[in-house]
Amino acid sequence: MTLAHSIHPDDTPALRKERGAFFTPDEITRFIAQWAIRKADDLVMEPSAGDAAFLVAAVDRLRELAPGSDAQPIVDGVEIHAHSAKVACQRVLSAGGKANVRHSDFFTIEPEPVYDTVIGNPPYIRYQDFSGEARARSREAALRGGVSLTGLASSWAAFTIHSALFLGKGGRLGLVLPAELLSVNYAAPVRRFLFERFRDVQLVLFAEQVFPEAEADVVLLLADGYLEGPANHATIRQARNAAELASLGVGQTWTPADPAGKWTSSLVDPDAVEPLHKLLKDGHFTRLETWGDTTLGIVTGNNKYFTLSPERAKELGLRSKELLRLSPPGSSHLRGLSLSSDMLAKLGREGQATLLFYPSNPPSAEAAAYIADGHRTGVDTAYKCRVRKTWYQVPLVPAADLLLTCMNADTPRLTANEAKARHLNSVHGVYLNATHQELGCELLPLASLNSVTMLHAEMVGRAYGGGILKIEPKEADVWAMPSLALVRARAGALRAVKQPVANLLADGRLLDAVELVDQALLTDIDDLSAQQIAHIRQARAEFMRRRTLRGASGH
Ligand SMILES: C[S@@+](CC[C@H](N)C(=O)[O-])C[C@H]1O[C@@H](n2cnc3c(N)ncnc32)[C@H](O)[C@@H]1O
Repeated sequence: MTLAHSIHPDDTPALRKERGAFFTPDEITRFIAQWAIRKADDLVMEPSAGDAAFLVAAVDRLRELAPGSDAQPIVDGVEIHAHSAKVACQRVLSAGGKANVRHSDFFTIEPEPVYDTVIGNPPYIRYQDFSGEARARSREAALRGGVSLTGLASSWAAFTIHSALFLGKGGRLGLVLPAELLSVNYAAPVRRFLFERFRDVQLVLFAEQVFPEAEADVVLLLADGYLEGPANHATIRQARNAAELASLGVGQTWTPADPAGKWTSSLVDPDAVEPLHKLLKDGHFTRLETWGDTTLGIVTGNNKYFTLSPERAKELGLRSKELLRLSPPGSSHLRGLSLSSDMLAKLGREGQATLLFYPSNPPSAEAAAYIADGHRTGVDTAYKCRVRKTWYQVPLVPAADLLLTCMNADTPRLTANEAKARHLNSVHGVYLNATHQELGCELLPLASLNSVTMLHAEMVGRAYGGGILKIEPKEADVWAMPSLALVRARAGALRAVKQPVANLLADGRLLDAVELVDQALLTDIDDLSAQQIAHIRQARAEFMRRRTLRGASGH
């Protein structure tokens, strides 16, 4: 039966989205069933069965393992949606098996550790839409597995834990999970749970988006040997798409420094990760937080109203004492090494909003007129404005030493804020420690454009829709930067390439600029060979290629 036939006419896409009902392609269900089911009498369960994509594959596999037998394999499932549960039973029957699909919320089922394998694709319902009792039940269920999830966890996290509790000792868990398993903070306890409880953990990663309907990148989790852990490493296997699963290579071994930490380094060639970690260990590189503190920018509640071009400010008659210099919304102007006063003035002349409305107390007559205008057009009712003591007094953050772009098609950029402009939350501010300030302002934006830092940005940040790399302040804190000692030691060489790098950046030639910085910064570091630098470059290029490819195949 095709997907179209199995969907009930009243079951709209919106309803399906609400309960996370996206269906798994056959190549994936077949692959997981082949891996998970090893004997003709294996007991199999699918916890959020939908129309039994995995149970059908399981029946095929069980029959394959019992050639010549007429026995009807029996498989178990759970599904919250009544019509799907019915369709699930019918589909398993047509596949030559028999299914017991309980129509129930999976989290209300007391786990009995009897299954050889649990396979499936849990619903990915974000915490915003996953509320009230449903979420409370899921968190309780995860707690039974010894895992405390925060309120930010998406539904798949508790599903993973609760699913494992149905396994007998030595059992196998084969799930399709969102790739955020590797990176999001709320999944840290899930990552630890998997490493602690299972003997062997494998991940299959895809270069392309295999699940366009789910609007998420996915990974396959294949965890073997329940209650026989801990696993001391994971095996990472990579496929371009679902069709390539049939011819997957052996993969590579990866050992996390801390299983709860991000697993994104698993995506990187070990030949590149090892020198990167060594550079950090030897103090040639350090976390950005040792240079200074990264924080969020100003939230106005309505950028269109609070940010003004010089021309608009003039029209309104606003005086300079009620206007603050501002790095205009967006970050395309922050792709060079600095934001100077001249550049800011030029952006202003081009009509960009380089001023922030910040009325005195009491406001001048002109400011009062603009405030009345804002009131008339309902700016004061926007949530962020409404909750302020005085709706038009935007809470400020001090002008930062460096500006850090948060959304990036290529790589996050640090820019020296020579103009001392304030910044909105489209960029982060980096406030350098007094000891690092002078050299940091002069050379860190330049020195940060090296291949090691760029590779690490891919590991600490997260890939967003459209292939964008996003970096949050917490992630920026641990981002690898050349250390103060290294920048100091290479200051002469860096200064010599500063202007050529600025010129290349102005021409959009980022990689040529990086080549110059690498030469100035990375050559002659003890133990770092040219070959290792080449591996680091390659790994970064590969990361970026995957990110953009996924972005493109997501449309
Ligand atoms: C991503 S779909 C997967 C369906 C099927 N396993 C597949 O891979 O094609 C998730 C399924 O979980 C069901 N579901 C959502 N919340 C559930 C819950 N609390 N208990 C049981 N099933 C649930 C949805 O109705 C949906 O059919």
